[in-house]
Amino acid sequence: MKKKSTCYYIGDKTSAKDIYGEGLFPDLEDLFNCWTNSPKLSIKNTDYLPVYAEVLGKLRGTACTIIEVGVLDGGSLFMWRSWLGEKARIIGVDLNPQANQWKDHGFEIFIGDQSDPKFWAGVYRDVRDFDAVIDDGGHESFQQIVTVLMALHFASKKSVILIEDTQTSLMKSFSSHGEYSFLQYAKDASDILNARHKAERDGEFPGPVNKKALKIFQNVNSIQFYAGIVCFKVDPTLINRGYSIRNIASEAENKDFRHHGYRAAMVNWPLAFEEKEVCVAGKSQEDIIKMLSDKG
Ligand SMILES: C[S@@+](CC[C@H](N)C(=O)[O-])C[C@H]1O[C@@H](n2cnc3c(N)ncnc32)[C@H](O)[C@@H]1O
Repeated sequence: MKKKSTCYYIGDKTSAKDIYGEGLFPDLEDLFNCWTNSPKLSIKNTDYLPVYAEVLGKLRGTACTIIEVGVLDGGSLFMWRSWLGEKARIIGVDLNPQANQWKDHGFEIFIGDQSDPKFWAGVYRDVRDFDAVIDDGGHESFQQIVTVLMALHFASKKSVILIEDTQTSLMKSFSSHGEYSFLQYAKDASDILNARHKAERDGEFPGPVNKKALKIFQNVNSIQFYAGIVCFKVDPTLINRGYSIRNIASEAENKDFRHHGYRAAMVNWPLAFEEKEVCVAGKSQEDIIKMLSDKG
């Protein structure tokens, strides 16, 4: 691989095995080959293809619908089609009307601004059901957030929303969001999934639950953080989330030892750009254990 500016160029002879070594699996190998052989330019990060292969692999060969924000030279549209198969409905979204050229190659194209909710309402009026939304558009936090919110609002079946290049939340050139970055939004949204459990544990949580936020994320099963990608897994068909349930066996027979171990842990808190050792305390701070991983 040759390096030019911040980007490595993959030569003809670079194989998926060269990049992914033992981590290679069949969906990933195929995706890598479809990306390498796409007739048009596409720039990706080596971290992304394994995520796409893992999350979207089950759509291959099906009559799925995917929406990709960010078309540019069309490289990823061709990659998706050759990897997902001819039955897939592949829809590109871009602000640049030049993207319309890809209609001649069998792709559906919508021209508009991903940060405009009215634009999305029009897209989803036409598209109805989708299996995946993949955002490789402008990478500004507000654009990513609006894209997630509108996809969540219109999701009508099990689907995934993948936001690419989330490292922009940490980058100076994308910092106009201040404290309200996309990554912070996604991390806070992950707390909302846990706040669902408040319903039956009143008094335990800091205050009344934010019902508006709970409603927005009511169909989200999980929020997965990958290197450079956040994935929201959505399932509008699931009901009764957040309740404890117990099976039909008799009462517990054994003593619960949960308070018999160490009472605290000293850890390096995982701040991305600062080292900070903290004590994470249990109900009392006796018997602090220093994590072995912190020693080296
Ligand atoms: C990184 S490129 C997409 C590359 C493509 N996905 C690939 O891998 O080959 C980003 C694209 O997003 C588009 N874009 C930027 N801001 C946008 C916005 N607000 N709404 C829609 N598209 C936008 C740009 O016009 C550009 O074509």
